[in-house]
Amino acid sequence: MTDSPLHDNTALTDRAVLAGSAYRSGGDLASRQSLYQWQTPRYDLPGIVVKLLEDISGPVVDIGCGNGNFIRALRSHRPDLRLLGIDVSAGILTEVPGPVTVADAAQVPLADGSVNGALALHMLYHVKDIPRAISELGRILGEDGIVVASTNSEHDKTELNELWERAAGDVLGLERGPSRISLSSRFSLEEAPSLLGEVFPYVRVIRLPGTITVTDPDPVVAHMKSYRAWADQHSVPFEDTVRRAHDIVSAQIEREGRFTISCLGGLMICRKHASQAAP
Ligand SMILES: C[S@@+](CC[C@H](N)C(=O)[O-])C[C@H]1O[C@@H](n2cnc3c(N)ncnc32)[C@H](O)[C@@H]1O
Repeated sequence: MTDSPLHDNTALTDRAVLAGSAYRSGGDLASRQSLYQWQTPRYDLPGIVVKLLEDISGPVVDIGCGNGNFIRALRSHRPDLRLLGIDVSAGILTEVPGPVTVADAAQVPLADGSVNGALALHMLYHVKDIPRAISELGRILGEDGIVVASTNSEHDKTELNELWERAAGDVLGLERGPSRISLSSRFSLEEAPSLLGEVFPYVRVIRLPGTITVTDPDPVVAHMKSYRAWADQHSVPFEDTVRRAHDIVSAQIEREGRFTISCLGGLMICRKHASQAAP
C-alpha cells in the first residue's frame, strides 16, 4: 500500500472524519458519483453487481454501503435476497432502505460463513487495516459465496490531479502546487487483487476504462468540492484552489470545446475456491 508522503492518510481512515464529515450524508458522495454521467462508455455498476449475484440466494451484505445505490438496485431486481447494509456512518444510513447497521468492516457483526454474498465497493481504501477487513470478508462468507469488491486504478482521473496541481500552484504562486488527496491509492486496482488473493484463491478482475467529457466546468468543480472533508490535508487553501480550477477548466472549454478525463475503475470477484465457476 502506498501512502503519499504529502498527505496525512490517517484522515482517510479516521472514523470521526468519515462518519462526522465526509459521509455524514450522501451529498458529497453523490457529487462524486454524478461525474460519471458524462462517461463513455457508461457502466451501470449496480446492474453489473445484480448480474454478478444472479446465482446467489439468501443473505447478502453490502459493507460500506454508503448512500445505498447497490442495495436499492438489489432490492428492486432481487427481492428474494436477504440484504443487510453496513456502514460506519449512521448519518448516511438514514438514506438507505433497511435493514442497516452501523459497524466497521474490520469487525463485521456477522457469524462465520453466514452470508452468500458480500459487497465491499469503493470502500476498502477507507479501512485502517485493509488485510483485516479482507479476512473478515473471508470469515463471514459461506463456502460457495462470492465477494465483489471495487476500487480505482492509480492512473484514474490523472487529468484531475494535473488540474489540481496547476490550480494549487497558481494559488500559491508556484509552478506546480501540492498533489490532490487520493482515496483509492491505499487500495488501488493494481494492488487490490493480490491483497484479496491473500484470502481468496479465486480473484477475477473486470476493468472498466472510460472517458469523461464535459462541456461545462460545474460537474468537475462539484467533484473536486466533494473532497471538502479533507480540505485541511491539501497544504493549500481549498476553496481558492477549487475556484482557480473552475477558471482553468472554463478557459480550456472555451478554447477546445471540452474538458476530458480518463477513468479506470474495476471490480474484483472473489471466491473461496479456485475451482469455482466464474459468475
Ligand atoms: C466511497 S463510499 C462508497 C459507497 C458505496 N459502497 C458505493 O460504492 O457507492 C465509502 C463508504 O464506506 C464507508 N466506510 C468507510 N470506512 C468504513 C469501514 N471501516 N467500515 C464500514 N464502512 C466504512 C463510508 O462511510 C462510505 O459510506
